Amino acid sequence: MKIVEPTARSIAEAARVVQQGGLVAFPTETVYGLGADATNERAVAAIFEAKRRPRFNPLISHVLDASEARRFVQWNDVAEKLATRFWPGPLTLVLPRVSDSPIALLTTAGLDTVAIRAPAHPIAQALMRAAERPLAAPSANRSGAVSPTTALHVSESLGEGVPIILDGGPCLVGVESTVLDLTTPVPTLLRPGGATREAIEALIGPVALSEALPSGESALKSPGQLTSHYAPTRPVRLGATAVAADEGLLAFGAVVPGGALLTFNLSPCADLGEAAANLFSMLRALDRPGIGRIAVMPIPETGLGLAINDRLRRAAADDDSGRAG
Ligand code: TXA
Ligand code: MG
Repeated sequence: MKIVEPTARSIAEAARVVQQGGLVAFPTETVYGLGADATNERAVAAIFEAKRRPRFNPLISHVLDASEARRFVQWNDVAEKLATRFWPGPLTLVLPRVSDSPIALLTTAGLDTVAIRAPAHPIAQALMRAAERPLAAPSANRSGAVSPTTALHVSESLGEGVPIILDGGPCLVGVESTVLDLTTPVPTLLRPGGATREAIEALIGPVALSEALPSGESALKSPGQLTSHYAPTRPVRLGATAVAADEGLLAFGAVVPGGALLTFNLSPCADLGEAAANLFSMLRALDRPGIGRIAVMPIPETGLGLAINDRLRRAAADDDSGRAG
């Protein structure tokens, strides 16, 4: 495993690795992805191995733009509208496969739909341009663990499982893409993420919310949305309005009274964008010896707060059986 500076040369080398069926970890604006040629069944199988991810949980296919997406999925007017506004960016669209779609069946875990997005990161884009392949890429972490927002997180989480990690510095958005299912009569939000519900609804009208349950219909619909996920090894306590002496505090805005062992503030000025960008790295930093529990201050359920609270609830869930993504 090596962390490499992204240069024309290292990106060309990474692209060759992808073309030969290998794995490359690369930065996106949301989190780091563990990428492989989305059209190569064996390459995609290697992603599932490296992450120890259950094979029923499908991957996102990354493309450069809407015209590339049209080769793989049945495009429609709503998709066009959304892509025009949000791509490249943190919005993943779930659409039916085209009948001759070259996307590997393993990429979509055998579903007849494909989750597709165009990431807004120059290194991700350069890699796709050089490889001339769509990239299947889940977050570059062990299944069930906290998503990586730096190259170092990737190497800590996957170690020898990834030969190359392209280092693009910290991810600017910090939470994963919003996953929106366009195959339902009313578009359904399968996972809140970097594109806010408010901004999506302003463009296309109301969306339905999928209740993410540890089992049941929505878990099958978006198999990655199982309850326990993004899980630090220490217990997580939400809605903290005070802290205990053995706790580490994940603060938001003005810090609550009490003497935490260690405090990280997601955003001292209570900015949700800043909080999202800091979320995973601060959760990791608090998940360390000496800390009995991680206490998290309340965060508003608006804008990016929806995605932040979703990840925090999963981090707090103690149901190990649900880990999947
Ligand atoms: O920001 C992101 O989306 C990052 C970066 C690397 O792009 N990727 C990411 O991938 O978060 P992953 O695999 O950790 O999460 C993908 C989510 C999972 O919840 C999965 O179940 C869902 O998308 N998904 C993938 N294909 C689907 C499909 N055909 N139908 C419904 N849900 C799908
Ligand atoms: Mg993930």
